[in-house]
Amino acid sequence: MRAAGQKARPLLALWLLLLLVGKPGYSASPSSPSAPPRFNVTLDTAPELRWLPVLRHYDPGFLRAAVMRIIEEHVPEWVHVLIGKILGELTGFLPQPFIDEIRGMCDVLNLSLSDCILVNLAYEFSAFCTSIVAQDSKGHIFHGRNLDYAYGDILRNLTVDVQFIKNGQIAYTGTTFLGYVGLWTGQSPHKFTVSGDERDKGWWWENMMAGLLQRHSPISWLIRSTLSESESFNAAVIKLAKTPLIADVYYIVGGISPREGVVITRNRNGPADIWPLDPLNGQWFRVETNYDHWKPVPKEDDRRTPAIKALNATGQANLSLETLFQVLSVKPVYNNATIYTTVMSAAYPDKYMTRIRKSGLK
Ligand SMILES: *[C@@H]1O[C@H](CO)[C@@H](O)[C@H](O)[C@H]1NC(C)=O
Ligand SMILES: *[C@@H]1O[C@H](CO)[C@@H](O)[C@H](O)[C@H]1NC(C)=O
Ligand SMILES: *[C@@H]1O[C@H](CO)[C@@H](O)[C@H](O)[C@H]1NC(C)=O
Ligand SMILES: *[C@@H]1O[C@H](CO)[C@@H](O)[C@H](O)[C@H]1NC(C)=O
Ligand SMILES: *[C@@H]1O[C@H](CO)[C@@H](O)[C@H](O)[C@H]1NC(C)=O
Ligand SMILES: *[C@@H]1O[C@H](CO)[C@@H](O)[C@H](O)[C@H]1NC(C)=O
Repeated sequence: MRAAGQKARPLLALWLLLLLVGKPGYSASPSSPSAPPRFNVTLDTAPELRWLPVLRHYDPGFLRAAVMRIIEEHVPEWVHVLIGKILGELTGFLPQPFIDEIRGMCDVLNLSLSDCILVNLAYEFSAFCTSIVAQDSKGHIFHGRNLDYAYGDILRNLTVDVQFIKNGQIAYTGTTFLGYVGLWTGQSPHKFTVSGDERDKGWWWENMMAGLLQRHSPISWLIRSTLSESESFNAAVIKLAKTPLIADVYYIVGGISPREGVVITRNRNGPADIWPLDPLNGQWFRVETNYDHWKPVPKEDDRRTPAIKALNATGQANLSLETLFQVLSVKPVYNNATIYTTVMSAAYPDKYMTRIRKSGLK
């Protein structure tokens, strides 16, 4: 699935990391789970400038090392070189405000724009996730997700909750890694919540370049534009289902009213399947990991069945953000690659909660 022969110079990357990581970014307390730092990013400020107050909380050397390590581990050298070369053409195609936000941070960190864009397009940040949308017996909608990633140590330290502010109000909230301007997890208050899970097709960089040239959207950028622009659950579902993307993905969406919960299985050009809650027929939750829901899960990576068992055991009447967090803490739904867990409910936006999970789980 990934180009095994292409993992260039891992030892060099590690060495650079050790060299540059004098102090870590924003250190989490060793006792976990702990809340990530929460920052305001003001959309009324120019895109190039709006992330700079957040960056000031981090060591630039740590951030530079993180970018370099991610590229070393995930981007084959030929893609890295090629992207650098065609970047002049590419930037004109990339949507705003994303590209200016990236440029602003990149300039301050003294990194090349192509490296920063590449890291922002690294699709595998959503590898091996679990998302759940569910309705309790009173009709409240809850949404939770685990984000798992194999080399999570750096990303744990870069995980942030961000409140995007427009006219002094929270326009939307999301969880991301500092420097990564898209969102894999987010909430539009009193409207809807969204999470994305990888739908693996491998060779993402080839698709990515073809897709970008066709003006298709990166997956996490569409989540953010939807949070920014869509006025309702229905509008969000339509936008997430139809907008052409650079790769396949699962989008999980929760609303504020009964039955507003859905898993959208996406092909690059449109929806492959739409799977809504059906509480009147006992289908009060939907669990999506990284496999099409209509197919069996591979035995070696079954996080679906344990999640369903835990939801069955909880029962619809006992569903809450707390019990959903417990479900997302059942092994192997929660595993040693889990970076963070977020639980949210758009009707109760203040309850948005992310916890960074412990690495090296036994
Ligand atoms: C992340 O933060 C923890 C806690 O402060 C620290 O022990 C660890 O070394 C940091 N990891 C990296 C890769 O900097
Ligand atoms: C920025 O990077 C360039 C090239 O890597 C280097 O020559 C220059 O000294 C760096 N500037 C700062 C301020 O770190
Ligand atoms: C973030 O913005 C919200 C909404 O304007 C405000 O209530 C809150 O105090 C801000 N937080 C910080 C740390 O500035
Ligand atoms: C969960 O409960 C449903 C309804 O009772 C049942 O059909 C299903 O087999 C259960 N699944 C698991 C994994 O326990
Ligand atoms: C569900 O809630 C009921 C009533 O609050 C409680 O008696 C029961 O123990 C709960 N069940 C579980 C599995 O937590
Ligand atoms: C994480 O879990 C996998 C699969 O269970 C195991 O192979 C690996 O050794 C574990 N890693 C750590 C650091 O515990």
